[in-house]
Amino acid sequence: MDTLLVTGGAGFIGCNFLRLVLAETEARVVVLDKLTYAGSLKSLEGLPDDPRNPRLRFLRGDIAERSTVQRVFLEHRPGAVVNFAAESHVDRSIDDASDFVRTNVVGAFELLEGARLQLAAAPAAERERFRFLHVSTDEVYGSLGPTGAFSESTPYAPNSPYAASKAGADHLVRAFHETYGLPALLTNCSNNYGPFQFPEKLIPLMILNALEGRPLPIYGDGGNVRDWLYVEDHCRGILAVLRHGRPGEKYNLGGRSERTNLQIVDTLCDILERERPAADNPALAGRGYRDLKTFVADRPGHDRRYAIDDAKIRGELGWEPRHDFAAGLRATVRWYLANRAWCEAVQAGRYGRERLGLGISLGRS
Ligand SMILES: NC(=O)c1ccc[n+]([C@@H]2O[C@H](COP(=O)([O-])OP(=O)(O)OC[C@H]3O[C@@H](n4cnc5c(N)ncnc54)[C@H](O)[C@@H]3O)[C@@H](O)[C@H]2O)c1
Repeated sequence: MDTLLVTGGAGFIGCNFLRLVLAETEARVVVLDKLTYAGSLKSLEGLPDDPRNPRLRFLRGDIAERSTVQRVFLEHRPGAVVNFAAESHVDRSIDDASDFVRTNVVGAFELLEGARLQLAAAPAAERERFRFLHVSTDEVYGSLGPTGAFSESTPYAPNSPYAASKAGADHLVRAFHETYGLPALLTNCSNNYGPFQFPEKLIPLMILNALEGRPLPIYGDGGNVRDWLYVEDHCRGILAVLRHGRPGEKYNLGGRSERTNLQIVDTLCDILERERPAADNPALAGRGYRDLKTFVADRPGHDRRYAIDDAKIRGELGWEPRHDFAAGLRATVRWYLANRAWCEAVQAGRYGRERLGLGISLGRS
């Protein structure tokens, strides 16, 4: 693999992907990241980078800014692009969707344009080899009832502004393949968990609140179901699609680990009880971790259930998750216990674990 442009590499999945790519390929990697509240150079510390022969270059910049993107393409002439950069938190998209439209839709468009312009003047061999992989979500498909699963041919029906912005980008990726022949690929993945996830998301939020004896806010009745995948397994899937996926195709990835939010919170409390017993934690003041569970107003438009049919990527590319959910969740709790300084640093001055995303409902007509 030649030079790989990874956008959003200072975020949760991006920084895990960098670790995998640097360990398992020879690629030179250029990271383009705006370092929003969700991105941090702290997440890149310890990455292998020899100053005499740097395989990793970090560039701070905005994927929605045309001049920045075009300069990056011109200066680094990537052989592949993996686009992780996004606004990723549904609750924030409910409060204000403007950054979601700008980064997730306009940003994806600018990257596609950058790639198209590079390839328009490139020799056929380079055009053949080039790949544009856009990382997307299962949320574009909308919500499921108690049965069934999303396949690659499930029609899009996004319900949150976040999901709609991701869906918009997915359509542009498809269109650039169909219209210009850009060798583009899409991956639609279920909920990820693991190290380096910003503490606004369910699993790290619950771990940190529990350790501090703060309420564990459960939206609605806690019965919303997500399918959970360990982040390293997602990253391996992305690498497999990058190497062996067929341009113009999309691939669903999931963990076959459906859980309600309530099950997740209960399991986390039980793991914490073993790893850091509540009786020894002064913040709990005699309570157990499960006593902190607090039911709060539901998220507006909260999708009830997501589930993934991942037969295509398993069958075509031989991918399957290596981590089972129980072991992955234990490893995640241990990582957060061991990395409290990272947690403090990424939140400092930016986020106090307050409730987000209640929005203002206009009622339903
Ligand atoms: N987290 C999940 O469970 C999940 C599941 C499926 C798909 N995805 C998708 O995977 C991708 C990565 O998700 P994540 O959880 O790592 O997100 P994240 O919020 O942790 O990280 C996003 C990164 O993008 C950067 N960024 C934001 N706006 C930018 C801009 N305009 N220009 C350049 N960089 C910008 C941020 O600084 C941050 O480093 C997203 O596209 C998301 O939609 C996430």
